[in-house]
Amino acid sequence: MGHPLPAESPIGWGILATGKIAQDFARNLREVPDAAIVAVGSRRSEAAAAFASEYGGRPHASYDALVGDPDVDVVYVASPHALHLEHARLALEAGKHVLCEKPLAMTVVEAEQMIGLARQHDRFLMEAMWTACHPVIRAVVDGLASGRFGTARQVHADLGFVVPERPPGDRLVDPALGAGALLDMGIYPLTVADLVLGPAEELRATADVGPEGYDLDVAIVGRHAGGAVSALTASMTSASPRTATIATDTGRLDLPADFHHPTHAVWTPIGGAPERVEGLGPVLGTGLGNEAAEVGRCLRAGLRESPLVPHEQTLRIMRQMDEIRAQIGVRYSADGAGRPGYGAT
Ligand SMILES: NC(=O)c1ccc[n+]([C@@H]2O[C@H](COP(=O)([O-])OP(=O)(O)OC[C@H]3O[C@@H](n4cnc5c(N)ncnc54)[C@H](OP(=O)(O)O)[C@@H]3O)[C@@H](O)[C@H]2O)c1
Repeated sequence: MGHPLPAESPIGWGILATGKIAQDFARNLREVPDAAIVAVGSRRSEAAAAFASEYGGRPHASYDALVGDPDVDVVYVASPHALHLEHARLALEAGKHVLCEKPLAMTVVEAEQMIGLARQHDRFLMEAMWTACHPVIRAVVDGLASGRFGTARQVHADLGFVVPERPPGDRLVDPALGAGALLDMGIYPLTVADLVLGPAEELRATADVGPEGYDLDVAIVGRHAGGAVSALTASMTSASPRTATIATDTGRLDLPADFHHPTHAVWTPIGGAPERVEGLGPVLGTGLGNEAAEVGRCLRAGLRESPLVPHEQTLRIMRQMDEIRAQIGVRYSADGAGRPGYGAT
C-alpha cells in the first residue's frame, strides 16, 4: 500500500507510443470517468502531434520527455513486447505508475525485473490484461466461484486471425519485437483457463513454427487442480473461432467471439434452456476502459498491484509461456537472460 492519488483532478494518463492499441486505448479512455489523457510520447514528433490533436494531451517527441511530464500520473506502455521492460523501466525510474501492454515482457525473468523495479520505486504496475478486468469475464468467474454454474471441468478457448502481409520490421512478423501467436494471442486462452480452472499443473504444446523461427499456430493442452483440463489454441494463419467454452458438471458456458472481451456469455444448464449472462456492471468502450478504470481505482486506493491482475498471476502465465516456447522450440534474444523453466520457482 502506498500513498493514494488525491481525488481533486482526474487520473492523468501519459500514452507511450502511438500505434494501434494506443489509439484503441485512447478512444476507450473517453468512456472512463475520472481519467484524462494529459500527454503522449512518440519517437516521431509528427506522430505525437497527430495523436494529441485527435485524443488530447501534450505531445512529446520522445519517451523520455513523456515520462518527465509532471502532469502524468500513470504511463500506459503500448510499444511492442520486446521493448516493454525498457519502457516500463523508464517510467518507473521517473516515478510514474505503469500500465503495461500484454505480454508484460518477453520472459518471466524480464517480468520479474519489471516487478522488482515497481517495488523498488514504490509504484503501481499492472499488465494490461483487460480480459481479467472485463465485466462479463468477471461475472463468469464469480458465478463459477459461487457454484451458480457448477464446477468447471473443461475449458476450450481460441484466439486467432489471418495476419495479412506486413512490411518487414512490423511487430507481428519481426521476431526481434516478439512476433509469434503464443505471446500475441495465446496469452488470452491461457489466462482464461487460469482464471476459470486455477493454475495449470501440467501443460503440453505443439506448434507450427515458421521459417522466421516464431510460432504461426500453437495448440496447448493443460491439466489443472482436481483433474480439470484445458484445450487452447492461437493462430496467425486462420480465421479461427475466437470463442471459449467452459464445460461444467451442471452445464455449459459459451463466450462468443471475441471471447476475451465478450458482449455477454450464455449459460446452458444440462436439460435446460440457454440463459444470457450479463456483465458485472457496464462495459466501458470495448472493455479497455474497464482496465483503465481498474488502474484508477487502485491508484485512488494507494494499491501497488491490482487484485484483478495480481503480479503472481502475470508471472505464472509468463512462466507457462516460457515453458511452452521451450516445448515448441521458439527462442527470442531475451531468452539469453536465462530461462528458469515452468514450475521451477
Ligand atoms: N490489449 C489488446 O487487445 C492488444 C491489442 C493489440 C496489441 N496489444 C499489445 O500492445 C503492444 C503494441 O501493439 P500494437 O498492435 O499497438 O503495435 P503497433 O501498431 O506496431 O504500435 C507499436 C508502437 O510502438 C512504438 N515503438 C517503439 N519502438 C518501436 C520499434 N522499435 N518498432 C516498432 N514500434 C515501436 C511505435 O510508436 P511511436 O512511433 O509513436 O513511438 C509504434 O507505433 C504489443 O505488446 C501488443 O501485444 C494489445
